[in-house]
Amino acid sequence: MYKELPKEPVVDILYRSTLIDLVRQSSAKRVAEVGVYAGFTAQAVLDACGDQISEYYLVDAWRLFKACELSPPIGVQRQWQANFDGVAVECCQRMLPYSAARIIRLWSVEAATLFELETLDLVFIDGDHTFGAVTSDIKAWLPTVRRGGLITGHDYGIVCEDANVKGAVDAFFAADEIQILPGSVWVVKKK
Ligand SMILES: C[S@@+](CC[C@H](N)C(=O)[O-])C[C@H]1O[C@@H](n2cnc3c(N)ncnc32)[C@H](O)[C@@H]1O
Repeated sequence: MYKELPKEPVVDILYRSTLIDLVRQSSAKRVAEVGVYAGFTAQAVLDACGDQISEYYLVDAWRLFKACELSPPIGVQRQWQANFDGVAVECCQRMLPYSAARIIRLWSVEAATLFELETLDLVFIDGDHTFGAVTSDIKAWLPTVRRGGLITGHDYGIVCEDANVKGAVDAFFAADEIQILPGSVWVVKKK
C-alpha cells in the first residue's frame, strides 16, 4: 500500500481554474504541462477534464535549475536534489490513478523534441520563469501545438530578479495575440 501523499502547501490556485476552463473550452485532448513539480495542477485538470483528455504529458527535469543555482555547498546541493527526487516520486504516485498521465523526466527543451510537429492541443508552460528559459520554452513547444491550439503559461505578472515571464511572452508574440486571464495566465492561440 502507498503511504498518504503530502498535502499541497497553501498556494493561490486561481490559475488552475483558468487552465481547466481553457482545456474545456478548447476541447483539448492532448495536453502538455511543462514544469509540474508534485503534479497538483495535473491532478486538478485530470479530475476536472479526465473524460476529455486522452494524453496529459507531465514534463519536469526535477533537477536544480537556473533560478535556484545559488552555488551553495555541495552537501546542500545534494540535499536539494534529494528533495527534488522525492517530489518526482510523489508526482508519479499522484498520477497512478490517471491512465492519461505520461510523465517525462527531461529538461523542457529536450522533451519538446519527442513530439511530432503540431500534434498537441494545449501546452501549459510553468517551468523556469527567467526571461531566457521562458523564451526557450516557447520556441521549443510552439511547433508542437496544432494550428488553432493553445500555448499558455503561468505567472505572467511576476517580474523580479529570477522571473520575467511577461518580458519573454511580450517579446515573442504580438500584443494582440496575447490574452491575460485570471490567475496570471497568458494564452496565445496558434495561427
Ligand atoms: C513552478 S513549478 C511548477 C508548478 C506546477 N505547474 C503546478 O502548477 O503545481 C516549476 C517546476 O518546473 C521545473 N523546471 C524548471 N525548469 C525546468 C526545465 N528547464 N525543464 C524541465 N523542468 C523544469 C522544476 O523542476 C519545477 O518542478
